[in-house]
Amino acid sequence: MGYSFAAGDVAFLRSVAGRAALEVASTLALSPASMIADIGELRGTYAPFDAAIIETVTCRRKARTKFRHAEDLLLTDDAVQQATAWPVAQARAWEIIRRYPDSVVHDVTCSVGAELMELSLRLGVTGVIGSDIDPVRVAMAAHNATTVELSAPTVLLRADALTPTSTADVILADPARRTGSGRVFRPDQLTPPLFELITVYAGRPLIVKCAPGLDHQNLRDKFGFDGEVQVTSLDGGVRETCLWSGPHARPLRRATVLRTHERKVSSYEITDDTDDDVPAAEPGEWIVDPDGAIVRAGLVRNYAHRHSLWQLDPQIAYLTGDSVPEAGRGFKIIEQTTVSDKALRKALHALDCGTLEILVRGLDVDPDALRKRLKPKGTRPLSLVLTRIGRKGVAFICEPGVRGGQLAA
Ligand SMILES: C[S@@+](CC[C@H](N)C(=O)[O-])C[C@H]1O[C@@H](n2cnc3c(N)ncnc32)[C@H](O)[C@@H]1O
Repeated sequence: MGYSFAAGDVAFLRSVAGRAALEVASTLALSPASMIADIGELRGTYAPFDAAIIETVTCRRKARTKFRHAEDLLLTDDAVQQATAWPVAQARAWEIIRRYPDSVVHDVTCSVGAELMELSLRLGVTGVIGSDIDPVRVAMAAHNATTVELSAPTVLLRADALTPTSTADVILADPARRTGSGRVFRPDQLTPPLFELITVYAGRPLIVKCAPGLDHQNLRDKFGFDGEVQVTSLDGGVRETCLWSGPHARPLRRATVLRTHERKVSSYEITDDTDDDVPAAEPGEWIVDPDGAIVRAGLVRNYAHRHSLWQLDPQIAYLTGDSVPEAGRGFKIIEQTTVSDKALRKALHALDCGTLEILVRGLDVDPDALRKRLKPKGTRPLSLVLTRIGRKGVAFICEPGVRGGQLAA
């Protein structure tokens, strides 16, 4: 939960005195061992703002991977957890500019401004509006927007997203997925709810960030959603499903795979309007595990077709082939065996298996429990891929996984 900031805290933190206090606090360890002494030092000089100062410095430290310049920002603990990581926000900003050049974009749930900043600092948008129902977050976003070199005029206001407050050309929303009683999963449980947003902004391009596990097929089949579904991963973890609707949106499915390297982002994309004709056949040299975004978007066969891979079984997302393409992890096959503990123990022992990564699809096997039973005691790191072909379980003992290819910058 973290400290609950008041408007007065934000005003102080934005003042000259507040900035000086943050500078002092940023030199303190603020660790469990030093906290009592650190609080004493700050309270003596900065009460009643000591808690707000400590929380801000702590949040900045936690936010380093999500935000570009976390050390200058005003944040809350919840806002950091909810924020879109900068590579994902950046990719979305570029895409909005490409699709809707010279538009005014309104982020109607801007929070502390992670997405807003990525939009505002780019040439190509005419203006950016940010609003949120929470006045403290709006005040923080107003401060945060001043920390980046703005290219587009940027306006912030407190507003309810369900009451349109602008005539902006494009609407961006990222409803909260947590309520007082925990995480929510259904689109009608979001705050604000998905279908209300779609109704309120009908007729305008609307982009809504949702949970990675959103059941997009159900959204189409049951609720008639006819826009675009984009599943995005970042550095191997699926981060979100984003819905693009309104004029010109097509009923497309796509996976966007983002990877960062030294603060540079590279990306790979695949859509469902590509060929997905692939055979199922005997394994090649490698087992290929497509990136999670491709699996979640239901584009495994399209990916296989594009890279001349094939399936082991038509129902299973593991692919096989003689090379490892980009946006996949490859496991070079050493040996194929049955899934019995006895056969696995014998084969792994013969290969001097030490650390063992276990991957499972299509079989009811608990990898941790299996690793404990197999007790590998050797020196060679290996991977074990367990799956089924038809009704039969199969095990592939493989070299440790490697990432395939280079994604385009
Ligand atoms: C998941 S956060 C958005 C995070 C933001 N996209 C970012 O990357 O920093 C959801 C935000 O929606 C706001 N919110 C919830 N209900 C709202 C409503 N009816 N109108 C406007 N904002 C709302 C919350 O205050 C919260 O800041």
